[in-house]
Amino acid sequence: MNKKIILIIFAIILGSVAILAYQSWYFNNDTTSRIILGNQNLPEPVLEGNLSLEETINNRRSVRNFTRESLILSDVSQVLWAAQGITDLENNLRAAPSAGATYPLELYILVGENGVDGLEAGLYHYLPLSHSLEKLVEGDLRQKLYESCNNQEAVLNAPVSIIITGLVQRTQDRYLDPDISSKYMHMEAGHAGQNIYLQSTALGLGTVSIGAINQVLMRDLLKSGQDEEALYVFPVGYPLN
Ligand SMILES: Cc1cc2nc3c(=O)[nH]c(=O)nc-3n(C[C@H](O)[C@H](O)[C@H](O)COP(=O)(O)O)c2cc1C
Repeated sequence: MNKKIILIIFAIILGSVAILAYQSWYFNNDTTSRIILGNQNLPEPVLEGNLSLEETINNRRSVRNFTRESLILSDVSQVLWAAQGITDLENNLRAAPSAGATYPLELYILVGENGVDGLEAGLYHYLPLSHSLEKLVEGDLRQKLYESCNNQEAVLNAPVSIIITGLVQRTQDRYLDPDISSKYMHMEAGHAGQNIYLQSTALGLGTVSIGAINQVLMRDLLKSGQDEEALYVFPVGYPLN
């Protein structure tokens, strides 16, 4: 074999290794490459409640202790809708505002054992367009969530926790500047989070916004890529006392 052929073979091997490495990196960063274990439709959200907006704002407090009572599926549905549900079907606009309607936020719900009537324990991803959940992981993962939230007890005793993450690239595709895009994404988590607080309060539930999150542990729990940042965790349940 002459030198030229050896060089060509070497270049082909090197090229193949580079392509495989790129594919592996790309798919590890792609949150849509997860395996979906099943789908669950959610009850339609309702547009009337028992408390006025003013009463709800006045009653809202951070709640960190919860009873062991299971939530009902319609309440879970209502809180997810308030955070990121579709409120304008024609234009697919959501319950919380978004800079340039770029919608960088994703919602997950971690359900503990007997956490919700009619929903098995596990980790679910909320799909706003179909107002449904896709199941990502089976089982009660509250211990892992507790460790991902710097050992905050509220997520251990809450029947469910809602996790808000963000994919800043969606906003950056529009606004280009990484700092501005990141700022917008974090502002949006605040809007969605306040809706979770208010809707929970209006339903007689309690919650607290948890910002202390270990990104490495949370990524492992959510099986998310480097492009997805965990922004907030909201344990939700019936307030104790
Ligand atoms: C950005 C942010 C991060 C927070 N992080 C936590 C947290 O990690 N753990 C916690 O127990 N409360 C957390 N809180 C809740 C505050 O402690 C709470 O809002 C504050 O004590 C005021 O009480 P209130 O919500 O009942 O009005 C956070 C609140 C905000 C706005």
